[in-house]
This record gives sequence, C-alpha cells and structure tokens, in this order.
Amino acid sequence: MEKNIDVVKTLLDALPFIKKFANEKIVIKYGGSAQTSDALKEQFAQDIVLLHLVGMKPIIVHGGGKSITNLLTDLGVETKFVDGQRVTTKEVMRIVEMVLSGEINKEIVALLNNHGTKAIGISGKDANFLQARSKDFEQFGYTGIIEHVNPEIVENIIEDGFVPVIAPIATCSTIGHPGFNINADLAASQIAIALQARKVLFLTDTPGVLDKEMSLITNLDIEKTQKLKEDGTISGGMIPKVDACIEALRGGVKKAHIIDGRVEHSLLLEILTSSGVGTCIEL
Ligand SMILES: Nc1ncnc2c1ncn2[C@@H]1O[C@H](COP(=O)(O)OP(=O)(O)OP(=O)(O)O)[C@@H](O)[C@H]1O
Ligand SMILES: [Mg+2]
Repeated sequence: MEKNIDVVKTLLDALPFIKKFANEKIVIKYGGSAQTSDALKEQFAQDIVLLHLVGMKPIIVHGGGKSITNLLTDLGVETKFVDGQRVTTKEVMRIVEMVLSGEINKEIVALLNNHGTKAIGISGKDANFLQARSKDFEQFGYTGIIEHVNPEIVENIIEDGFVPVIAPIATCSTIGHPGFNINADLAASQIAIALQARKVLFLTDTPGVLDKEMSLITNLDIEKTQKLKEDGTISGGMIPKVDACIEALRGGVKKAHIIDGRVEHSLLLEILTSSGVGTCIEL
C-alpha cells in the first residue's frame, strides 16, 4: 500500500512539468555515442513513449558516428574529422546514408513501435525536408550545411499522432547529386528552430559539458560557452553540439540541454523533475 502511494506521489511530482510541456514540441538529438547497450535503447524508447502519451510532441534526430566509423573501418575506408565534423567523400556518403537512413533510423523506429508508440522514420531527403549546400567542398566533401528546412512533412507527421524519427541527410537540388551528410547536432538545432520547438536536448556519452578538471558544468550562457571553445576546453564532437545549442537559442528555442545518454532514463530526469541533469545552456 505504502509503495502504491509512492507511485502516485511520483506521478504528482511530474504533473507540473507535464502541464508545462504538454503540446510542446521537444527535439531530442539521440547521439550515436548514446546508442550503446540494448537496455539503454529500450529505456530511451520507453521515455519517448511516455513523453508522447502525456501530450508532448517529441521529434527525434539521430546521429550514428560510431556505427559509420565501424563500417568504414571494416570496409578499409579512412575516417577523417575536422573540428568534430566528418569529412565525407562520395564513397563515405554512400556508407553514411546506408547506416543512418537504413540501419539506425529503422532500428529506432522499430524500437518505438514495439514499445507502443507509432513512429515514422524519414531522412531530410523525404519531401525535401532538409535542403543543404556544401560546407566547404575542398575540405569537407559532401558534409553539408542546412540552407532551408521545409517543416510541412514533419508537422503533418506530428499532427497525425506519429513520432518523427529523422536521419540527418539532406537533399540537394542538383539532379543526380548524392545529397549531403549533416552533423546531427546541427540538423537538430535547425529542425528545432523551424518547428518552433520549446526545448532541444542532446543525448551523448558524457555527463554534459565538462571543464578542464573534467567536472560537469551545469549552466552555461553563450559568452561562457564561446570562451570554453576558444581555450580548447570544448573540442571534437562537443564543438558542433554547443554550436547547435547556441544556434537553437538564437533561433528562439528557450532551452538547450546536453545530457548523458548512458544514464538510465536521463530524458525523463531532465524533462519531468526539478533537479535536471547535464548542462543547460540559456541565453
Ligand atoms: N568539454 C567537453 N565536455 C564533454 N565532452 C567533450 C568536451 N570536449 C570534447 N568532448 C567530446 O565530445 C564527445 C561527444 O561528441 P560525439 O560527437 O563523440 O558524440 P555524439 O554527438 O553524441 O554522437 P554522434 O556524433 O554519433 O551523434 C565526448 O565523448 C567527448 O569526447
Ligand atoms: Mg557528434
């Protein structure tokens, strides 16, 4: 009996947050580095199902860096990163699309469907959702920058009660072009802006943004974040992530969070409790 009342109390604790975010769009970037164990993947799916059932509108944008690198290594193709972003040759682009749009996207969709929500997987090529141009072809090849988001297709998916799961591949208007590989963090921020999301969360494989002593920084603003980039505290894959946070905030999203996808139910801890986890970046 006592245990049952605890359950009820826990639900009531979450009530203010459910009210606050009901009907709001929340973009969740599901980092490749957070998609580690089957148990964590199941918990991620449960969290999304719960958020959806209580009236929030989760939009998932996924990465897949490690899986892409693993397959490239198996195929004997070199992997190169500059400032945390992949250099995408034509050969790499084929693999990126196969892994992101094929394998990972469908795995997440199946997981969500099996847990009781109806998810639809698309890439930025579908209905021209994400349109891009090359970032710097000489240096990055087919790694692109989003020029335009056509939100209609995703708005329709949400309106019809489905959870959109988006692979960060963009289309190019040139006929026969292979399309562009987009860093998933930067895709998430552009999507959050275009869909006027309330929040954007980045699930990754660190507790959040760490300082030089490897301690978690719980709150950051744009100025402090820029300083950490300049002095090299923020490097590699964290660079596009904080850039994405800043871009989203400047584009009207209220809060950006970088949280540890390796912690059980970190999404629910962040959204439905007052304590929060990870790093919160605000204007
Ligand atoms: N100051 C910092 N604090 C925390 N992590 C940092 C910092 N600077 C660099 N990093 C690196 O950033 C990494 C997270 O970015 P990474 O691109 O590897 O993961 P992801 O974006 O979650 O996955 P994917 O790119 O596959 O979607 C961390 O594992 C860490 O090595
Ligand atoms: Mg990354």
